[in-house]
Amino acid sequence: MKRKAWWAVAVVAAGLAFPISNLILGVPVRATYMELATETPLEARAKEIFAGKCVMCHMDDPGLPFYASFPVASSLIRRHVTDGTAIWNAWELIAAHGAQEVSLAKLEQSVLLDTMPILPYLLMHWDSALSAREKKDLLAWVREVRAKRFARGLASAAFASWPIQPLPDRWPEELDPKKLRLGEMLCHDKRLSTDDTLACAGCHALTKGGTDQRQFSIVVRNQVGGINAPTVFNAVFNLAQFWDGRARDLADQAGGPPFNPIEMASNWSEIVGKLSKDAELTALMKEAYGDVEWGPEPVTHAIAEFEKTLITPDSPVDRHLKGEKGVLTDEEAAGLALFRDHSCATCHTGESMGGKSFERPKDPAAFYAALGRAPVHDDFGRYNVTTNEADRFKMKVPNLRNIALTFPYLHDDSQTDLRKVVRLMHDHFVPELNRRRMSDADVERIVAMLMKNTGQLHGRPL
Ligand code: HEC
Ligand code: HEC
Ligand code: HEC
Repeated sequence: MKRKAWWAVAVVAAGLAFPISNLILGVPVRATYMELATETPLEARAKEIFAGKCVMCHMDDPGLPFYASFPVASSLIRRHVTDGTAIWNAWELIAAHGAQEVSLAKLEQSVLLDTMPILPYLLMHWDSALSAREKKDLLAWVREVRAKRFARGLASAAFASWPIQPLPDRWPEELDPKKLRLGEMLCHDKRLSTDDTLACAGCHALTKGGTDQRQFSIVVRNQVGGINAPTVFNAVFNLAQFWDGRARDLADQAGGPPFNPIEMASNWSEIVGKLSKDAELTALMKEAYGDVEWGPEPVTHAIAEFEKTLITPDSPVDRHLKGEKGVLTDEEAAGLALFRDHSCATCHTGESMGGKSFERPKDPAAFYAALGRAPVHDDFGRYNVTTNEADRFKMKVPNLRNIALTFPYLHDDSQTDLRKVVRLMHDHFVPELNRRRMSDADVERIVAMLMKNTGQLHGRPL
């Protein structure tokens, strides 16, 4: 043979050596993963599939094959592991027995769209594509977990296993009417602000979708804040409160605004001083909480309890999910299906279509360029709380209930046109591998559906 031909043979042989070694040796997997306990046969099956085909890019510190330390392979493989694990963590999902609504939705969509494993990996691991059987089992596991942990049995059979579910009519636990009444009054009480000008409801009006409907809130002393006031409706379903999640729950959150210098700018001794002078309110407080004094606890607790009643069920979208005929036009119903097909429901998941995870645009520089500005401190989002580099630019996913009323949009209040927001989402948030062409007609249908997402508060249409 000529020298050139020998070369070709050598190159092909070298190129085949790694995939063949992978076939023979299999892929190493760290013991920390193999030791995870499983609860059902389907979960055990999912764990096994992940071990064979997924965890090497989707857990921290996976076991890697010997050639992962070779120069070129090393940086490529490590990038896949970092990117892959940042976006979806198989170890955590199995460790939580599937109880991660967003992670589950992402898994389901990757199986439905057949995006995983990624192509470079398939080239090196010829047996790594998911078989029809494996796909079926993974989807069955997703359905099993959803039925067990997330569904409330409200959706019709057609939507029972969807990543989006109808809002429940009320908070599932018993709430004390006295505390609710106190909480409602406090939410409307301007004495929580330093100059008695501003109540919670001033920025979260119950008649304005739980928001202020303005670009940046007017705050005490007529200052203007720099970030969107999200709705208090259905906030009880959020995994944490604020765009960056710095409050772990509603009571923790309610302790924030009164002291925020650019919100209510007050302090507890000032507030307690004012509330103690109100004999009627103090009597109500003692009736609800027993013999305690005014202080952070009854105030934030009562407000948080009241916020649990701010659930807005029975929008046309929800009634459609529950199986009622004729509440959505064909266009709007198509919009709901498109919302899922275009992967929107992988982040806008659950009963409030959001609020369950922190997410970042794929390329933050491109996203902020599209917004026409450079990012500032507030845009670092979750990073400002954790100082973990992987969290930079992550925001809590906003819930999309009552979106017709919660304008302007995005954390910087920069958008008023939902069509444009939907395009921004498609271009910057939907993962590249999931992205399908989205026509103007698709956008129109999705927006038409979103406009029918307005529910009822305390039995009255919003
Ligand atoms: C060689 C590495 C690699 C392997 C193996 C791999 N993935 Fe991924 N995966 C990635 C990368 C990289 C991304 C991020 C893609 C992006 O940013 O668009 C990703 C993204 C994902 C996502 C997130 C999609 C979303 O909607 O956000 C899911 C879910 C996922 N992979 C599941 C799987 C499953 C299930 C398997 C096994 C069948 C698997 N992956 C195997 C590298 C891998
Ligand atoms: C000056 C306007 C203003 C006032 C007054 C105000 N808020 Fe807010 N609220 C905001 C802004 C702005 C945010 C978002 C801040 C952030 O994420 O950094 C917010 C966030 C929230 C959130 C989190 C929602 C979510 O999805 O993360 C809740 C709940 C909330 N406020 C309830 C209250 C309560 C209760 C009070 C009264 C104690 C109150 N707010 C007073 C403007 C205000
Ligand atoms: C990777 C997760 C992710 C995906 C996928 C995603 N979104 Fe979002 N969505 C977000 C985040 C995070 C925000 C807040 C972004 C910000 O304010 O900077 C958001 C904001 C929105 C808003 C504005 C809400 C408000 O109150 O300000 C709308 C509307 C929206 N998304 C619709 C969609 C649609 C439609 C799709 C599918 C085409 C989609 N999203 C896909 C994460 C996602």
